[in-house]
Amino acid sequence: MVQSVLFVCLGNICRSPLAEGVFRSLVFEAGRSGEFEIDSAGTGAWHIGDPPDPRSIEIAAKYGVDITGQKARQVSDDDFDRFDTIVAMDRSNLTNLNSRSNGGTAHIRLLLDDPVQEVPDPYCGGPDSFENVYQMIRAGGQRLLSTLTDQYS
Ligand code: 4NP
Repeated sequence: MVQSVLFVCLGNICRSPLAEGVFRSLVFEAGRSGEFEIDSAGTGAWHIGDPPDPRSIEIAAKYGVDITGQKARQVSDDDFDRFDTIVAMDRSNLTNLNSRSNGGTAHIRLLLDDPVQEVPDPYCGGPDSFENVYQMIRAGGQRLLSTLTDQYS
């Protein structure tokens, strides 16, 4: 069975492209690439068509993950039926997604929900913010992968 997962932040240039790339790499390492469709999007429209922020590209590359091929897009109405799981980086993304879901079938959740932790917006931060975001995304991605694989195995 193929599961689809959409990672969502505000701009789709910093956090969610990193989450998409890191989760894809975790899935690959687990030998489960054929079992997942993975994408990312932003709630905002400012960066549609842009590549990831150079700071996200850099931190991903530091950990062996290539996210240079991604292009930002905005969340669309059909995402709420197309994806099995939609993963928000922070509470603001979560609120936005819940208010747009309009009865869609996707399960909408925070990346880190037990205990609740928000992946903070690093856009205006320094290099430490990107390191911190990477570590949170990696930990959250590992937990998400084990939750999703337990659920369907
Ligand atoms: P992201 O970061 O949501 O992690 O992609 C941001 C990127 C751009 C903006 C805000 C957050 N912006 O306001 O342009």
